[in-house]
Amino acid sequence: MDTIIKTISFFLLFSSFSYMVTSTESCSSSACHRNEPMIRFPFQLENIQAKSCGYPGFDLSCDSTNQTVIELPNSGKFTVKAIDYGTQEIWINDPNDCLPQHLLSLNLSGSPFNGVYIQDFTLFNCSLDYRKYRLNPIACLSGSTYTVFATSSLRAIKVLSSTCSLISTVSVPVQWPFYEQVLSSDLSDDLQLTWVAPQCGRCESRGGRCGFESNSSQEIQCTNTPRHGIPRSARYAITVGAGVPAFLCVVGLLCFVCGRVKSYGRRRNPMAEFSSTVTPQPTIAAGLDGSTIESYPKIVLGGSRHLPKPNDTTCPICLSEYQPKETLRSLPECQHCFHADCIDEWLRLNAACPVCRNSAERSPLAQAL
Ligand SMILES: *[C@@H]1O[C@H](CO)[C@@H](O)[C@H](O)[C@H]1NC(C)=O
Ligand SMILES: *[C@@H]1O[C@H](CO)[C@@H](O)[C@H](O)[C@H]1NC(C)=O
Ligand SMILES: *[C@@H]1O[C@H](CO)[C@@H](O)[C@H](O)[C@H]1NC(C)=O
Ligand SMILES: *[C@@H]1O[C@H](CO)[C@@H](O)[C@H](O)[C@H]1NC(C)=O
Repeated sequence: MDTIIKTISFFLLFSSFSYMVTSTESCSSSACHRNEPMIRFPFQLENIQAKSCGYPGFDLSCDSTNQTVIELPNSGKFTVKAIDYGTQEIWINDPNDCLPQHLLSLNLSGSPFNGVYIQDFTLFNCSLDYRKYRLNPIACLSGSTYTVFATSSLRAIKVLSSTCSLISTVSVPVQWPFYEQVLSSDLSDDLQLTWVAPQCGRCESRGGRCGFESNSSQEIQCTNTPRHGIPRSARYAITVGAGVPAFLCVVGLLCFVCGRVKSYGRRRNPMAEFSSTVTPQPTIAAGLDGSTIESYPKIVLGGSRHLPKPNDTTCPICLSEYQPKETLRSLPECQHCFHADCIDEWLRLNAACPVCRNSAERSPLAQAL
């Protein structure tokens, strides 16, 4: 009897001790606003979290409109659009809505960040009629008598060099793995960067939290992975966590089965849905061949589900929302995005973009010149 009481009190003591250890963690997550990205190690929010909560070079701040801001050495301030702690990626854009202007002076050396996919774009200042060439001008750099374009197509560079003045060639950390030949882009999409150190991706993906071992060392440790000695908050979470998911599982399973049956119907035949709402284009009859379709850029969405175009959250073909780990494909000429499965099936039958009806084939300037 005595030994049983001793054992029990030992375990009680042990569990309350380990709870005290975990509760000394002071660097909790924060954000500039509830719609802004969650900030935690290796990042640190100035005036909200202690300087020692972040890794050197990962300092962020909130601006007067509650946007999250990062200042890169040599390149100035950018707004932070999203952070994926598991894949160690960050998406940034220009606070003044003129990213191309900012790209002219982008230099990532001296910052902990690198581009994931780099694409060179050449900027030209022209006085030609761009509509004739289906070029997409950069509005914020253009004036009433001249237009500025960015292109990565070698043929377009050759042609424009003879009639326009060259501004500069910039290396852009794009979101797509390869934009082999982008005839023209307004370069307004978020830039995608990654960091090599500190290596917290594996810890974050397992549900852990990364941080310094102590405030006197630069060693990184992973905490909050499943442990013994359950604190009260966790016991509560487990009580709720066991009941609610069981219920949600049943509901989710039902929804999934329903959704599967519906989307199977939709995806099986994307033509059926469109032919009822859109009059067919008589000029474009045949589809594209498999190798042309495969040459168009593809990405797999990360866990943070950051989208190449943050406002386009659903696939225009199957009308379902993009989910993490799904593969998207973009059409190089108009840069509209779709589920890769959906657009591939569509393009095999029809060589026009289902959204803007422009030809999904290369435009004459990219193709013929
Ligand atoms: C910024 O956030 C604070 C507090 O959350 C709020 O009072 C303020 O109105 C916000 N400012 C803007 C410009 O949204
Ligand atoms: C970027 O900045 C570094 C150091 O400031 C400099 O050495 C390098 O030449 C710059 N790179 C470009 C492309 O300007
Ligand atoms: C483009 O050229 C015009 C003159 O043709 C000039 O006024 C303008 O500043 C140039 N713009 C850029 C961004 O270089
Ligand atoms: C660690 O941080 C705490 C609180 O911020 C501070 O009181 C303590 O002196 C620091 N220790 C060292 C070794 O810097």
